[in-house]
Parts: sequence; C-alpha cells; structure tokens
Amino acid sequence: MAYLTKILTANVYDVAIESPLEPAVKLSEKLGVQVLLKREDLQPVFSFKLRGAYNMMVQLTKEQRDQGVICSSAGNHAQGVALSAQRLGCDAVIAMPVTTPEIKWQSVKRLGATVVLVGDSYDEAQAYAKQRSLEEGRIFIPPFDNPEIIAGQGTVGMEIVRQHQGPLHAVFVPVGGGGLIAGIAAYMKRIRPEVQIIGVEPTDANAMALSLHHGTRVQLDHCGIFADGVAVKLVGEETFRLCREYVDGIVLVSRDAICAAIKDMFEEKRSILEPAGALAIAGAKAYCNYYGLKKEAVVAVTSGANMNFDRLRIVTELADVGASKEAVLAIIMAEIPGSFKRLVEEVGPVNITEFRYRYSDSRTALVLCSVGVHKEQELQALKRRLKEAGLMVIDMTSNDLVKDHLRHLIGGRAILKDELLYRFIFPERPGALRKFLDTFTPRWNISLFHYRAQGQVGANVLIGIQVPPEDEQEFKRCAVELGYEFQDECKNEAFQLMMST
Ligand SMILES: Cc1ncc(COP(=O)(O)O)c(C=O)c1O
Repeated sequence: MAYLTKILTANVYDVAIESPLEPAVKLSEKLGVQVLLKREDLQPVFSFKLRGAYNMMVQLTKEQRDQGVICSSAGNHAQGVALSAQRLGCDAVIAMPVTTPEIKWQSVKRLGATVVLVGDSYDEAQAYAKQRSLEEGRIFIPPFDNPEIIAGQGTVGMEIVRQHQGPLHAVFVPVGGGGLIAGIAAYMKRIRPEVQIIGVEPTDANAMALSLHHGTRVQLDHCGIFADGVAVKLVGEETFRLCREYVDGIVLVSRDAICAAIKDMFEEKRSILEPAGALAIAGAKAYCNYYGLKKEAVVAVTSGANMNFDRLRIVTELADVGASKEAVLAIIMAEIPGSFKRLVEEVGPVNITEFRYRYSDSRTALVLCSVGVHKEQELQALKRRLKEAGLMVIDMTSNDLVKDHLRHLIGGRAILKDELLYRFIFPERPGALRKFLDTFTPRWNISLFHYRAQGQVGANVLIGIQVPPEDEQEFKRCAVELGYEFQDECKNEAFQLMMST
C-alpha cells in the first residue's frame, strides 16, 4: 500500500512526459496478438530514467540540495540525474568509467553536470562517487535501489493502467537492477492484479532470473554488456524484495533476438532503440510464441533510445538471424574441381547472403555460408539436400564465436602446436593492448588476433596463443591478474572445425 501512495504522489512531470501507449500494427499482425508499446524512448533524455531520479531529488530538502548530488553511471541514469539537477538548480557530479564513450559523457556535460571520468569499471566509478558523497556531504542518487527511485519509475505503470482500460494479458519490462519493473509491478498488482508482469533479461545478464529462482540475490561473475543499460551483476535489495512479491516471471532473450527486436521497432515506427530499450519487445515475441497467445493484448515497455551509432552495424548483421530469417552454415566438401559448383547448385533457390571460402588443404574445403530462409522447413530441406549430396553441414546459427569472429577469419587454419583460443573484453582506452601484450609476450606466442569494433564499451577480441600444457595454469593466473574479462573458447566446435587442424 505504501508504494501505491508513493507512486500516486510521485513528482515526475516537471521533467518527464506522459509517454504514449501506441499500437504496434505490424508486430501485432505477425504475432496474432495486440501489441502496445509504452514509448519511454520518447522521454526528453531518451529513457525513463529521469522519472526516478527527479522524484528522489525533488524530495530532498533545500539544505540537502544545496550540498549538491552525486551519482555513478555509464549511461541513462547519468542523464536523468543531470537533467533533474539542471531543473532543480542544484550542483551535480557524475562519475563515469574512463571507458565511457565520449558521446555519452558529452551529453551529460551539456546538461550542466560536472563529469569525472574515473576507474575502468562501473564498480570503481561507484566507489569513487560514494566516497566523495561522504567527504563533501553530497547526496548519492542510486540508479535503482531506493524507494523514491522505484516510485518514480512506477509512474510508468500508473500511466499504462490509465491509458489501457480493456483486458490486458501481460506487461513486459526490461530488467537491469530491477527499479523499473519493481515500480510498475508494485502499482499494477494493486490496481490490475490479473495482469502478468513479466521481466525480460539478456541470457548473459540474468541476475534477476537467477535471484528469483534461488530465492536470494545472486551475484553474476560475468555479465554480458551488449545491452549495456541492463548489464547489472547484482540486483537491488529492495527491488528484489518487490520482484519476489509481485513479478510473475522472467523471459531470457539472446543478443540476436534483441537485434531482431530493434529491427521490428524500426519497421514499425522508424525509431531506433538501444539494445536494453528493445528487450521488452524481444521478450514479448518469445513469450507470445511460446504460449501460443491469440488476440490477447500485451504491453512492451520500450525503455530507451540512447543508441551508439557505431553499433548499428552489428545490429543489422544479427537482426535476421534473430528473426530466424538467416542461418549460418559451415559446409565441408571435397577439395576437387567442380565441388564448389555442385555446392552452389545444391543450395539452389535459397538466397545466399554471405559466402566465404579459402583453400586450406588438398583434401577437404570448408565453406561458410549464410542463407536467407523464410521458414524452418526451408532450412531443413536445404540441410537435407546438402547431406544427400555428400556434404557435411554444421548449423552455426547460434554460435556467437562464428558471428563475431570466425566468419571474418575463414581460411586461417594453421598447423600449430599448443594453441589456445580465448575471448577477452579489452577496455576501450589507450594502452589496453600494450598492457595485454606485456602480460603474455614474449613468453608465449600470439598466433591469432581478431578485433572488430561493435560500438560498445569494451572491445570483444579473439586471441590465439601458444601455451604448452605445463604452462596452462600460469597462463590462466596471468589472465586473471590482467583484470580483463575473458572466456575459454578452446572447446568451441567452430574453432575446432574452422581454425585448428
Ligand atoms: C534503457 C534502459 N532500459 C532498462 C533499464 C533497466 O532499469 P532497472 O535498472 O531499473 O531495472 C535501464 C537502466 O538503466 C535502461 O537504461
């Protein structure tokens, strides 16, 4: 009850708009349900985050505001706090990791806040902000775990109830630390308890799903950063308490499905969402298909549009895979004259979107081939035709290593001893590569290096390195000490098939 009152009396409209609830006509037709989009991407700073920030800050006393505020964020919360501070005439310091892209910290600075670039990670920026708040008496504005922040975000739920009075099956909400979904759920479960409140998380940033499953907050060791707005390793205490009480379930979606949802939104409204902003659409699609919903109404909260332009390349590359309209196949054929032509004949009428081949040895040849498919049966028929023609086919459509790296490296097979394959996330700042090389070389030989900009915080780099078995423990110790996130890919079937002998 306390939250209902808090949300009803929350003060957000000095900075936020009542965002429209719009029908998504094409998506509705495709899914056979009525999809409505709660357009938080249309807010003044292109996300809902200003609701919570303003609601907390407007309730500070004059004395507290005169002390100034401080927060840490690499993204949307920073802009919400900066805009709120500007409206309230209070001084704001925003601590951001040094790896924050210039476009992000510039937009915060433009709103009049003081930006401090500090630390390699969000955790370091947060430690700085908390320390400085103690030293200077500034009020720390948390990104999600605070009742006033939750109540501010809850006004999204209040608006949905007002804007859609007919039957409603579910509301899909992206989940990072859980502030948005906690606020929406706390309101809607009081007023429309029959409506399902479903959270959506990326499969590799599933802190809330795991926490709800185990009944206690679970901290992730690694957290995917593609949907950076929801890349949170540990959900909030209060947000978790509310989610346990009110949230009906969590849907997990892949990076490809998020990209497909960004494309859906573009086709629907000609708007471009950031990955976190498109999560709810991806979740709604997966849920409606899985449960075979027909004609019901559902709402997806499109929560943000702070998209780094450079990321559009990877989004367009993956969108068709995510919509099951493109498949990535590795095909092995005999290295004899005429076999390439035969392969093309077997692929036949299917639209080829990418084809990569390079001679590797005199016996077999490996071809990487992406094809456009409209139906699952079409893909199955193609695989059957290829197999009947004596070709070996491996479906790589859901192998991220292939889509990020190996498709660009085909032809790189080598006879190498003791080669290990690792993916590292390099912080995007000068000196990161140098530090990496200083750690591992000249002791071990680097045998492969692939990096392709994806416009995200942290560069996704694939490394081949020759490490004798007796050195492997030492290599892992050095990798941990380096402090960059990393993942062992030696057992990835694509690597074994395409890169090693
Ligand atoms: C665009 C976007 N969507 C969703 C979220 C998740 O919100 P919460 O941390 O309250 O779960 C965020 C958080 O910053 C965001 O920026």
